[in-house]
Amino acid sequence: MTDARQGLTGLLDTEAIRKDFPILDRTVHDGKKIVYLDSAATSQKPRQVLDALNTYYERHNANVHRGVYTVAEEATALYEGARDKVAAFINAPSRNEVIFTKNASESLNLVANMLGWADEPYRVDRDTEIVTTEMEHHSNIVPWQLLSQRTGAKLKWFGITDDGRLDLSNIDEIITEKTKIVSFTLVSNILGTVNPVEQIIRRAQEVGALVCIDASQAAPHMVLDVQALQADFVAFTGHKMVGPTGIGVLWGRQELLEDLPPFLGGGEMIETVSMHSSTYAPAPHKFEAGTPPIAQAVGLGAAVDYLSSIGMENIHRHEKAITEYAVKRLLEVPDLRIIGPATAEDRGATISFTLGDIHPHDVGQVLDELGICVRVGHHCARPVCLRYGIPATTRASFYLYSTPAEVDALVDGLEHVRNFFG
Ligand code: ALA
Repeated sequence: MTDARQGLTGLLDTEAIRKDFPILDRTVHDGKKIVYLDSAATSQKPRQVLDALNTYYERHNANVHRGVYTVAEEATALYEGARDKVAAFINAPSRNEVIFTKNASESLNLVANMLGWADEPYRVDRDTEIVTTEMEHHSNIVPWQLLSQRTGAKLKWFGITDDGRLDLSNIDEIITEKTKIVSFTLVSNILGTVNPVEQIIRRAQEVGALVCIDASQAAPHMVLDVQALQADFVAFTGHKMVGPTGIGVLWGRQELLEDLPPFLGGGEMIETVSMHSSTYAPAPHKFEAGTPPIAQAVGLGAAVDYLSSIGMENIHRHEKAITEYAVKRLLEVPDLRIIGPATAEDRGATISFTLGDIHPHDVGQVLDELGICVRVGHHCARPVCLRYGIPATTRASFYLYSTPAEVDALVDGLEHVRNFFG
């Protein structure tokens, strides 16, 4: 054990937790056990989630909301039961406020399209403005660019400071009486920054703008209470929170979901259809056209159960300790520059960095030889790389199963990378 590891407090019992994640025993490159440091891209899945998926397909598979036979009713109960679990997990006032989508990108695109087709008072048009930030994942930039191009609304954004925080010094000029929607990330997927939600929401409320929060990098890691947040929409995805791929969530305030128009049309989302017109089912079904991702929702329900059994506060405390340790140890590596907050304060468990002038793809490749899995590239947040004048970063991201020993393995691996490239 390195000296620095002594005195770390708040850690989870990772020995027990890791037994739930079969993939963490995998080896690559002649028996090297994987060190999985890419949970911001996707988390690993515990046996409890894998079992729920299997059991669903082996025992309960049928389409939902249609059949009158027992198995179909079981499928519907499991799918709608998953909605109850997610609603409780985020403290939603009503289960009808939880819309299942394919992923967070679809959730954010859904909000942009709801507003694009809406009537007053929500309508986005050439006399209005849309606000986002330079820190966003592409999924919270491109839908707004598309909406701006389609409607003529002006797209504005908050910049980023040198130390990886949102620059809110001009908040009153960015969010104005013309702003219809402010959409921003709670935790940056590249910088790890945790953003000051309250300050932004306060200003948005002053001018009567709606607020949409991308919680993709928050929901897996901290208590997400949509009532405390006071936003209008919150988007996140299942696969980063130990759930399966193919399932995302959009939470929206009930009265908005009642007023706003659907985006996709099809089965499931209607009340009646004639050749001339249709009426729509109430939310959430109005926004879930077609056969939904049933097994994936059931898997997400199991994921939420799993995270709740460990406790989101405990997970957050664990990650905070790991992040503190990782920041400290990474800063000991010569030529390493953290892109984003170089402290453990107000940051999540995702750390991007550059290593001298070694290209991140080379760093990632040499680390892979050691079994260390990190993501390299622009992390679907290219404007951030442009802001710092770098083509890419290496990104290590931690989760409830990450250990201080894995941080040490990364630091040793980076020394190896430096030696390898002379
Ligand atoms: N959004 C995922 C990431 O940040 C894919 O890696």
